[in-house]
Amino acid sequence: MDALRVGIAGLGTVGAEVVRVIERQERTLAARCGRPVRVVAVTARSKAKKRGLDLRGIKWAKNPLAIATDPEVDCFVELIGGVDEPAGPAIEAALAAGKSVVTANKALIAKHGLKLAALAEKHGVALNYEAAVGAAIPVIKTLREGLAGTDIDRIYGILNGTCNYILTRMEQEGLSFDECLKDAQRLGYAEANPAFDVDGHDTAQKLSILASLAFGTKVAQSAVYVEGITSITPEDLRAAADLGYRLKLLGVAVRTPQGIEQRVHPTMVPRSSSIAQVMGVTNAVTIDGDGIPPITLVGAGAGAAATASAVVADIADVARGIRAEPFGRPVAKLAAISKAPMQRH
Ligand code: NDP
Ligand code: HSE
Repeated sequence: MDALRVGIAGLGTVGAEVVRVIERQERTLAARCGRPVRVVAVTARSKAKKRGLDLRGIKWAKNPLAIATDPEVDCFVELIGGVDEPAGPAIEAALAAGKSVVTANKALIAKHGLKLAALAEKHGVALNYEAAVGAAIPVIKTLREGLAGTDIDRIYGILNGTCNYILTRMEQEGLSFDECLKDAQRLGYAEANPAFDVDGHDTAQKLSILASLAFGTKVAQSAVYVEGITSITPEDLRAAADLGYRLKLLGVAVRTPQGIEQRVHPTMVPRSSSIAQVMGVTNAVTIDGDGIPPITLVGAGAGAAATASAVVADIADVARGIRAEPFGRPVAKLAAISKAPMQRH
């Protein structure tokens, strides 16, 4: 069978690792997909930057749009980030040109996911975004496929690796917020603008994607109550510990009589609870379904290897010809934003 020809826009933390993984896993991928997967075109801002990649034989495209519309590319992989130029228009162009799209861009999916899903459906191609939530954790597939027959009451968890890494190191090593954030940036965990992480917006974007899949709501970041971790001090963490708690930034979406409530804020969790044991860059998502005990998925929530693992899995689905519905039709009502404490956690 012919190779799947992949074009990658963005060669930063995630994009460069995706190129490496596809090269390293060449034989395994071909065996798993029943056909070879080949990177044929790439682009980034700077062609001169040293990336430790062997790009011989791979076309360097002028810009993301050139890859998105290149007739020699079957699958467009967007790993630039941001909701506007160039990521958004390039994805639209690729879908309109009949190419399947893989992206890790939660900001874009949270804002334009339903519109892009409609475009993908119209052109009969895939729009895969597993890496957008929980990096290595296959939570999108779990909700979309594994739990398609389950009524979900609540989904919650630690959805931002940078914040959990910062809170962990502040608590365990007594380091300052700024020192920990710098390390998270150095390790490739943080967003290009880390305010998205620490102000809670990245978690809100991910939560709104999960809520849409879990409950059939619109993807609406604007309906999420958001508080980040910037005002948390080492003293807060010590005070929580003295009371037998640990502070975690949680995203919670829950079914209420008023509709689906979505909220992101630092939360005191009992130190004996399983979520309190989730440390460092690790993420965890718990799904409470009707008639089944809660399911918890735990794994690396950010970083090159974790994210590339999910991106390559999405590319493998395209190579196999698997085309899942990106989002269902919105059927559930969203509750108004509420600051009132939740009734249960
Ligand atoms: P980086 O900032 O490391 O990489 C961004 C890449 O995009 C760089 O190669 C940059 O080029 C390129 N780029 C920026 N602007 C342009 C442009 N105008 N034209 C062409 N290329 C451009 O980001 P990450 O790899 O960390 O993140 C990429 C995406 O993955 C984002 O959507 C992010 O939210 C998401 N993500 C990231 C995770 C992580 O752990 N890092 C985890 C999950 C999702 P150059 O290198 O030349 O500057
Ligand atoms: N900045 C994000 C995080 C990357 O720290 O969780 C993974 O989505």
